[in-house]
Amino acid sequence: MKLYEQFSTEIKDSIEHGYYQPGQKLPSMRDMSAIRGVSISTVQEAYRLLEDTGIVMSKPKSGYYVQQIQNINLLPDISRPEQQPVEVVYWDEVLKLTTTDNTSNFIALGSGAPNTSFKTLKSFHRIYADIARNQPQRVYENSKGKGLKQLREQIVRLMQTSGCYSHPDDIVITSGCQEALSLSLKAVTKPGDIVAIDSPSFYGSMQAIQSNNLKVIEIPTHPETGISLSALEMALDQWPIKAIQLVPNANNPLGYLMPEDKKKKLLEMASRYNFVVIEDDIWADLAFQKPRPSTIKSFDTEGRVLMCSSFSKTVAPGLRVGWVAAGGYVKLLTHLKFITTLGSATLPQMAIAEFLEQGLYEKHTRHAKQHYQRGRDIMINWVHRYFPEGTKISYPQGGLCLWVEMPEAIDSFELNKNLQAYKIGIAPGALFSANGKYKNCLRLNYSDVPNEKIEAAVKIVGDQAKKLLKII
Ligand SMILES: Cc1ncc(COP(=O)(O)O)c(C=O)c1O
Repeated sequence: MKLYEQFSTEIKDSIEHGYYQPGQKLPSMRDMSAIRGVSISTVQEAYRLLEDTGIVMSKPKSGYYVQQIQNINLLPDISRPEQQPVEVVYWDEVLKLTTTDNTSNFIALGSGAPNTSFKTLKSFHRIYADIARNQPQRVYENSKGKGLKQLREQIVRLMQTSGCYSHPDDIVITSGCQEALSLSLKAVTKPGDIVAIDSPSFYGSMQAIQSNNLKVIEIPTHPETGISLSALEMALDQWPIKAIQLVPNANNPLGYLMPEDKKKKLLEMASRYNFVVIEDDIWADLAFQKPRPSTIKSFDTEGRVLMCSSFSKTVAPGLRVGWVAAGGYVKLLTHLKFITTLGSATLPQMAIAEFLEQGLYEKHTRHAKQHYQRGRDIMINWVHRYFPEGTKISYPQGGLCLWVEMPEAIDSFELNKNLQAYKIGIAPGALFSANGKYKNCLRLNYSDVPNEKIEAAVKIVGDQAKKLLKII
């Protein structure tokens, strides 16, 4: 982190702790430089950064004033999905969103992809190339069964950071988290079964549910703490729910962290009502808090949690390396993996194992998180500034996506269509619901380095939304 970034974080902390109050003027650059023993240019850069993120505002010829956004007031309400099992309706729309071939000047604000241009990934490029050059015979071998042992050992070590103590033999390597979720569903359900999910929910997992001929029941979800356990209990009393699938850490799309006591209570409920938990942990290494949050799996003593994850968000999605910590289902999962794809490609597994082993993954994710946290604050500020009045915004605790709830009258499918002329894409909110709720919502990606082009694109999205409301 550069000195001015570090210094701006210190000032931000001071503001959050009430040392500088909203409305108060910050010391002049000269005074601040003398008080804190840093150069005037460092103070200047730090103040500018704080202004970009909406924490302070500058008044011409006067100075910088604290104006931190009171995001709590902007948060969406708890979701209220239909409380009965339904089929997933969107099918072609999801395929369209995920397979659109974006040209280089397209601004994909709807994407869930990470930034793969960080300097901390250079060491990964080197490792990958070295392995391909020096160990071709190993690379060309199939990594059958549960996948490369060296990688499974490293994953076990990585999982310990979430308080989860597994054995390499409990891990099955998959082609990304999507395959991990699909295989887990196959392992624990049969056609016609009901699966509970958080709501809004990641569209990829809903597609996997639909393709397995399952029904879903969406559970009301709070934007800061996740699913409502009382709503889940009511659903369990009414329906024979086989499994719950959810993203409790740095959730996609809401960005919340489910509190630890809630994770434990969910597990108690799973034991009492005898259902399986499919925990999608893909975003958790990008949670902003330190240490990273615990998994539900870390409290599992009965082997009823299948924890799915991948390196798609932390390293790169194109590597297609994921895994399932399969609990009591490991044998079945290994068999299902064999039937589906036999094994995953060897080279990416070897490279990631090495990246982890050398401690470079930790360094890289630390850098990525700092970048994303700043991106979040700037994107919130832009949405706040450019979107129609009454817009609500999530406050992600990790990851790289923002959930935006616009006034009811806006249809984000229509908005997305109108944005095509500007070569801008968003992820329409309805795709995150099983049966078409959240039409007035959308998901925005803040993984790129914030720049004028992206700000202009966010402004266009806001203007087009206002146009649909007929207020401009
Ligand atoms: C919550 C969640 N699970 C799974 C996936 C799919 O991950 P992968 O690319 O590793 O298959 C994504 C990708 O966006 C996701 O957000």
